[in-house]
Amino acid sequence: MWRLGYIAVLFNLFIVVSLTNGEPSPRYKRETAELSPGNWDSCKPGAEAPPTRVPTYDQVNLLRQYFATLGIEGYLIPNEDAHQSEYPSEYDKRRGFISGFKGSAGFAVVTTSKAALWTDGRYFLEAEDVLDCIWILMRQKESGVPTMLEWLKNELSPGQYFGASPYLIGSSTWKYYKEELAKSGIALVAIENELVDLFWSSGLGRPDQPNTPINALPLEFAGVSWQDKVKEVKSTMEDEGVNMMVVTGLDETAWLFNLRASDISYNPFFLSYAIVTNDKIILYILNHQAKLIQDPTDEATTVKLHDHLNTNIDGTCTGKTGDCVEVKEYNPINIRNDIRTLTTSSSKVWLSTTCNQAMYSAVNVSKIFQRNTPIAVAKSKKNAVEVEGMKRSHIRDAVALITFLTKLEKEVKEGKKWTELSAAQDLDQHRREQEHNRGLSFNTISGSGRNGAIIHYTVSNITSIDITTKDMYLVDSGGQYLDGTTDVTRTFHFGSPTDYEKECYTRVLMGHIDLFQAKWPKGSYGHILDTLARKPLWDVGLVYRHGTGHGIGMYLSVHEGPGRISSSQSTSVYDNPLDENQFFSDEPGFYEDGKFGIRLENIIRVVNATTDYSFPGTQFLTFEHVTLVPYEPHLIVLDLLNDKQIQYLNDYNEMVREKVGPELKKQDKTAAYDWMIKRTEPFKRTNTTSSAARIHLSLIMFCVNVLFLLCV
Ligand SMILES: *[C@@H]1O[C@H](CO)[C@@H](O)[C@H](O)[C@H]1NC(C)=O
Ligand SMILES: *[C@@H]1O[C@H](CO)[C@@H](O)[C@H](O)[C@H]1NC(C)=O
Ligand SMILES: *[C@@H]1O[C@H](CO)[C@@H](O)[C@H](O)[C@H]1NC(C)=O
Ligand SMILES: *[C@@H]1O[C@H](CO)[C@@H](O)[C@H](O)[C@H]1NC(C)=O
Repeated sequence: MWRLGYIAVLFNLFIVVSLTNGEPSPRYKRETAELSPGNWDSCKPGAEAPPTRVPTYDQVNLLRQYFATLGIEGYLIPNEDAHQSEYPSEYDKRRGFISGFKGSAGFAVVTTSKAALWTDGRYFLEAEDVLDCIWILMRQKESGVPTMLEWLKNELSPGQYFGASPYLIGSSTWKYYKEELAKSGIALVAIENELVDLFWSSGLGRPDQPNTPINALPLEFAGVSWQDKVKEVKSTMEDEGVNMMVVTGLDETAWLFNLRASDISYNPFFLSYAIVTNDKIILYILNHQAKLIQDPTDEATTVKLHDHLNTNIDGTCTGKTGDCVEVKEYNPINIRNDIRTLTTSSSKVWLSTTCNQAMYSAVNVSKIFQRNTPIAVAKSKKNAVEVEGMKRSHIRDAVALITFLTKLEKEVKEGKKWTELSAAQDLDQHRREQEHNRGLSFNTISGSGRNGAIIHYTVSNITSIDITTKDMYLVDSGGQYLDGTTDVTRTFHFGSPTDYEKECYTRVLMGHIDLFQAKWPKGSYGHILDTLARKPLWDVGLVYRHGTGHGIGMYLSVHEGPGRISSSQSTSVYDNPLDENQFFSDEPGFYEDGKFGIRLENIIRVVNATTDYSFPGTQFLTFEHVTLVPYEPHLIVLDLLNDKQIQYLNDYNEMVREKVGPELKKQDKTAAYDWMIKRTEPFKRTNTTSSAARIHLSLIMFCVNVLFLLCV
């Protein structure tokens, strides 16, 4: 699954936003002259309000009550948590509460007289349906729609203050906002106590802060002990002359200490911060006293948290020999004070690129060293045990997907009713039945026909349509396993595809193959490879508008940095060259609006390449297969493929048979085994169908005809 926001989070600073001078065009103006509750119809004159509208007049006014005492004229409500998580917990979805809009992308601004919500094209319809009339919907990137900064410069006057929580905004974004607003004389002020938190209580439907049990991930899955990981991290810190590091990413603490939980949907994380110094390791978690002595809840582990971390049951390290992790309470204010105190005796402090402004501001700027942490880099390069686990889990995952597809194809062809939703539910169930499964790695994208063309389609009982023999079907899904994280996309047609659909599928496949077959000098960034995946589509004037590959974790996040394969130019602080044992997705696609979507996605591993020649001092890298699920043979136009691409398909199919076959048999999935065998038949170029042969044949026929004519 390609995540649009992934790029946005890391690179939003570098996107140069063109300033538009004109007023927003009238169709974007849905605010009313008078702010009054229940005044639905005024959004669109004469229109009836959809039943999905969420009344938000009360909460917006509650928020405004704090403005006067704080001296602010407006306030920003983002959807992020303090760790810039891809999936914030329900507890952190403040923007959803204040605006009624629950989509994954977007943020809200409330001023003394107006309320505005910015979101992207995926969510315009949903936002229009739920926002009540006090909200202005800002359709990002549409012409005439101002950015938040442009809008604020118009709404606020020089000398006025605009507030935001420093805990919920990344330090680089904060700096950018502050500098931009300052150009118009508006001051961005840090509001220590998040304002929505002051009144959004359980009485108003707020869920509790996530606080799930934390389990140790056994060494048989993690491969390297936390002690060894800390040692490696400290050695990199030393190399850089850094004597303190603040860990803010939830995936980073989970990886560093070999711990997993389920505070966040799809990601086995727990709310936490960590600090590593020359002589201290501190981990901050919620409800730490209880968690340290709690019995493990995951059957894979028997060790209690305090034993795993070599910590006293109260979280202290007194009297402990060997490495000990001091465990303290997850209390942002105290954590910030600790950072402030520990910083005074440090000369250089490593902060991650996603560090929030609150923690960033606790460190004297002259000491800050901000870039991807050594954890992010080490985590992306899987150790030998993790590599094996990733491979094994992908085989079991293939069994789940193949079993599902076997049944789906058979029944759709028989005319049985299948919907996008029932398909997603069935597939999810097959995954959950596999050994070591710990749920899904993201919300399954199950899109038939036109819904397949929506890149981040979320199937619901409102949007779900039937899967039929008339349409393409795209399914992008993945699982979490103790020994790996998976993410795979396949596209099918269970009836008679058109020639155009076949050509599009084949060209996506060609790009997918060409990227996989690349060999490149070590040290290269992913963006130089990206073009390989696009060329077969570019050749005929087609494009896809998303990246080609993202990193993936080992029982961690389905999207992880620091490397990636996309067309955006890399910047060394945020990106890293592709390196040995990193795992990436290879997922070109093609989307015909309103008709169909095609995407093919495998997870692939970076390995050393063997080359015919060698150039002094230059190591070459290439990819190796991890995902093993058959393609759709009858969507492939063999004539478009070159010999190397056909060889790829035959090698791949052989590998699917060899690796997934025994597991299907072991699990007694006979029908699925047969389906897999049928779909992995070797491809042979028959000379009568090859275009070269056809030209020969027509030349011969032409000559025969000429001779015939000459004779008569
Ligand atoms: C930050 O560090 C510099 C250089 O050591 C020092 O001059 C300055 O006073 C410090 N600022 C604060 C706020 O501590
Ligand atoms: C659709 O799903 C929602 C939430 O899952 C549920 O509350 C609702 O009853 C469902 N509606 C139908 C028509 O099944
Ligand atoms: C890949 O090449 C590098 C550099 O020559 C070497 O250090 C590494 O051990 C090689 N990896 C394998 C698996 O052979
Ligand atoms: C079929 O065509 C290929 C080239 O496309 C050629 O190498 C091969 O010899 C041909 N086979 C036969 C049986 O003519």
